[in-house]
Amino acid sequence: MEFSLSSKKSLRGDILIPPDKSLSHRAVMFNSLAEGDAKISNFLMGEDCLSTISVLKELGVKIKVSGSDVFTYGKGINSLSQPTKVLDVGNSGTTIRLMSGILAGRDFESTLDGDSSIRKRPMNRIIEPLNKMGAKISANNNNENAPIKFNGGSLDTLNYDLPVASAQLKSSLILAGLRSKNGIIIREKATSRDHTERLLSNMGADIITKGLEISVNPSNIESRDITVPGDISSASFWLVAACIHDNAELTIRNVGINETRSGIISVLKRMGAHIEFSNKKDYSGEPACDIYVKSSKLKATEISGSEIPLLIDEIPIIALASVYAEGETKIIDAEELRYKESDRISLTVNWMKKAGAVVEELRDGIIITGNNNLSGGTFSSHGDHRLAMTLGIASLVSKKKITVKNPEASNVSYPGFWDYLNDLGD
Ligand code: S3P
Repeated sequence: MEFSLSSKKSLRGDILIPPDKSLSHRAVMFNSLAEGDAKISNFLMGEDCLSTISVLKELGVKIKVSGSDVFTYGKGINSLSQPTKVLDVGNSGTTIRLMSGILAGRDFESTLDGDSSIRKRPMNRIIEPLNKMGAKISANNNNENAPIKFNGGSLDTLNYDLPVASAQLKSSLILAGLRSKNGIIIREKATSRDHTERLLSNMGADIITKGLEISVNPSNIESRDITVPGDISSASFWLVAACIHDNAELTIRNVGINETRSGIISVLKRMGAHIEFSNKKDYSGEPACDIYVKSSKLKATEISGSEIPLLIDEIPIIALASVYAEGETKIIDAEELRYKESDRISLTVNWMKKAGAVVEELRDGIIITGNNNLSGGTFSSHGDHRLAMTLGIASLVSKKKITVKNPEASNVSYPGFWDYLNDLGD
């Protein structure tokens, strides 16, 4: 498939974004391990979260889907049963990594596998500490690549410094810690998204966070009804669209603004973006609000260190914003981007260079010198949802038409994105 769009004269209106992907995964996983029934409202029906549901169903959990609601009937943390086939996570890194913590040290065998992108992504970062706890897990290429096989074992204690600031790794170990004999202590390099700690604590788990150190004691959890707020990572495409378009005014409704996720807001504000919050609300322990954003004169900034995990998924779209910012924007300490659904450093630099931007590739980041200049062209998403949507937003401001090959990659996190893009503004 292909999608083509020429720039638009104006972008105005209200935008309703899809439910949060990270929270949708966690809401259904944790309620499946809890005692009791739960209703999850405004669940993201994107391919990634549907993969999580089908994996949990294969493990014997009763789950019903009705419209945008999901009903779970959890029977407790030890209630999963042996699957009859390989558990397919599709394109979802969150599913494979969090489910690994759930499947580690069970008294049955299972295998997690996924698509060609998943098979390239690093898995030893979860396998090594889980095996240290006593799990018996193996994978291809010295335990680095899926398929991941779980061969029983039992979980003891762990005292561990996480080698990367990754919420998926942290969450995987926390989930294993709940079923460990004596609890675990882990230390993050920098704060990453804390949805797992918030939600599990809310469900009664014994989790204590002190700065970068997290202690998890063996716990059972109780089911909770959850309403999922909108996904700030999906909102980011419209935030940047409005900032870089010279005739734009958008209000994005019900956006989750957990401070471990909202690094893009601080960065865009620092760059001079006109952004206002209103209607602050609480969504099952997660803050959310409406965000008003309009055309802004942006200036360059530097993004590095502990700010990176707070906006890790937004770097491709921030790179696009930087093309329309005055000066040199430097993004460093972001090597993790090379291990996402694609190598997002190299692919971002490639398409931007071809389109006329002034970009330099670093091992751990990107330097962009703003020149307000994107000519059109044909670019592939390389099967990466966030690259696909970044190219879609670029088409709103590009001098000539942009054609995106394989645009349907966006379905893992943002079903309906291309219709929305087509229909917005004029
Ligand atoms: C996620 C964490 C991030 C992010 C991913 C979703 C999560 O990955 O890139 O899209 O839901 O925990 P890492 O924690 O591995 O950086």
